[in-house]
Amino acid sequence: MTHLQILFVCLGNICRSPLAEGVFRELVKKRGLSDKIACDSAGTAGYHIGNLPDHRSRRIAHDYGISLTHKARKLVSDDYGQFDYIVAMDTANFDHIQSLSYRITGFDMPEDRLILFRQFDSIDPNTDVPDPYYEDMAAFDEVYQIAVRCSESLLDFLTETHNLA
Ligand code: 4NP
Repeated sequence: MTHLQILFVCLGNICRSPLAEGVFRELVKKRGLSDKIACDSAGTAGYHIGNLPDHRSRRIAHDYGISLTHKARKLVSDDYGQFDYIVAMDTANFDHIQSLSYRITGFDMPEDRLILFRQFDSIDPNTDVPDPYYEDMAAFDEVYQIAVRCSESLLDFLTETHNLA
């Protein structure tokens, strides 16, 4: 079976989306779905291309037993065709992904394939994953907790929708 491909996207691809990618991949592994689901991450901006995740994201991930080795990259036109779902960390990213899709491909990204990560948050949906870049370690821990909650529900959704269990 071909992999279902999921792309997590934030602004810089060094704080939120690589952490979400790491948390989600770990959960996919825990549920025995690694041969069915693959994931990656990217940024809408290219300020940090080639860099490892921010040391604070790496430290939080490490504290919870996850190693982040992703190198930052910018969202490219091929991503729209390659990935089954693009998961935006906040509404600004979401709008940017949508408008870039139209500019690059001439089409809007289909609504059912462009997802706001936090819509899967059982505690506080309909909000953004807050940008922790100018904040302290507590903000990174909060992003981690959000990523855990949203990954669980996102994976439930994918498992059901694509009969993966
Ligand atoms: P991210 O956080 O979008 O979660 O990776 C940021 C990283 C870098 C910058 C802003 C947000 N920046 O302005 O360089």
